[in-house]
Amino acid sequence: MVVQIRHALGQYDVHIDAGLLSSLPALLEQALPGRRRVVISDDVVAELFESAIHGAAPDQLHFPAGELSKSREMWARLSDELLSRGLGRDSGLVAFGGGVTGDLAGFVAATYMRGIPYAQVPTTLLAMVDAAVGGKVGVDTRFGKNLIGAFHPPALVVADPQTLMTLPNREFRSGLAETVKHGLIADAGYFDWIEANVARIQARDLAALTDLVRRSVEIKALVVSEDEREAGRREVLNAGHTVAHALEQVTRYTMPHGEAVALGLVTECRLAARLGVAEPTLADRVAGLLRALGLPVELPRGLASTALVEALQLDKKKRGEEVRMALPSLLGGMHRAGRSWSTAIPREVIHAELTVNE
Ligand SMILES: NC(=O)c1ccc[n+]([C@@H]2O[C@H](COP(=O)([O-])OP(=O)(O)OC[C@H]3O[C@@H](n4cnc5c(N)ncnc54)[C@H](O)[C@@H]3O)[C@@H](O)[C@H]2O)c1
Ligand SMILES: [Zn+2]
Repeated sequence: MVVQIRHALGQYDVHIDAGLLSSLPALLEQALPGRRRVVISDDVVAELFESAIHGAAPDQLHFPAGELSKSREMWARLSDELLSRGLGRDSGLVAFGGGVTGDLAGFVAATYMRGIPYAQVPTTLLAMVDAAVGGKVGVDTRFGKNLIGAFHPPALVVADPQTLMTLPNREFRSGLAETVKHGLIADAGYFDWIEANVARIQARDLAALTDLVRRSVEIKALVVSEDEREAGRREVLNAGHTVAHALEQVTRYTMPHGEAVALGLVTECRLAARLGVAEPTLADRVAGLLRALGLPVELPRGLASTALVEALQLDKKKRGEEVRMALPSLLGGMHRAGRSWSTAIPREVIHAELTVNE
């Protein structure tokens, strides 16, 4: 199946099907016709998918797996390697791997010779349902994550859920948190479907994973394309993430992103209830599903709530405004205050919610 993404900066197809990797060379030839291709992947993925990567292009570049590689240093090393191999403006890249590979290789593509086309071949659930779709690429700095980057939509996305079979459980759960977010922000029917299919999803039933990826990509595609007509709509994709980023910061990034997002979603639903924007039962329902998927829903006891509030306030200072969040109002619907998709949260309300568990 194919989901079309329409964006001012480019229109592209997201192909989703089990076993699709066998058609990768043909799909690449279509989307990057006549171009000399180079696959960029991390060393773990390079070993796991050696033959598919080799089939995609004879030219390959590998980097050490992990978030630390999403740096300007690695961007420079990869770009220099392309230059030394004599790749011109008529070449095309293939980002083959998780979100780190997509963001890093995508940023190389965005800047190489002022921009060359590239394809995304996501191999983690998070990359399939989130990172590979939307066109945001970039690297981290010591000042924070994703602070240097660009909008550079891919020419093609090829998601083969079969690749998810080798994914470690922790990584798999990370992606699941984002799919729950998609149901919460845009589609109650999808949320119901995940609830009804927890066992199949946990067992990594291929048909269930294919449906899961398809529906999440459709929702992200819808929000991203509506963002053009309705400025700021994209902000709803941030649901759960304001609190998640504060949690990641406070735990010095030892808390996995998916766990932080799960806790963030529940906390933000509870904040919405405190503000009278959502029913209190919404947080319970969201927590129930996340728990069933193996994700945490109670803030860790030892976590200093004051540090968390501080991290949120710090975020505020950086933007020079009050703490704002995109809040859910009901299953499948986000709260809208006037023209804005985000709501200011009074400090006392945040404090009251975060200290509830102490
Ligand atoms: N651009 C965006 O819009 C966007 C959105 C969300 C997240 N992101 C970024 O995505 C990154 C996280 O992505 P991620 O979680 O995919 O991390 P990742 O790319 O580091 O992959 C996680 C780990 O899984 C391994 N792996 C990948 N595919 C595998 C497979 N099929 N089987 C076994 N192991 C496999 C990788 O080698 C890596 O060790 C972060 O940097 C985040 O900022 C970007
Ligand atoms: Zn996320």
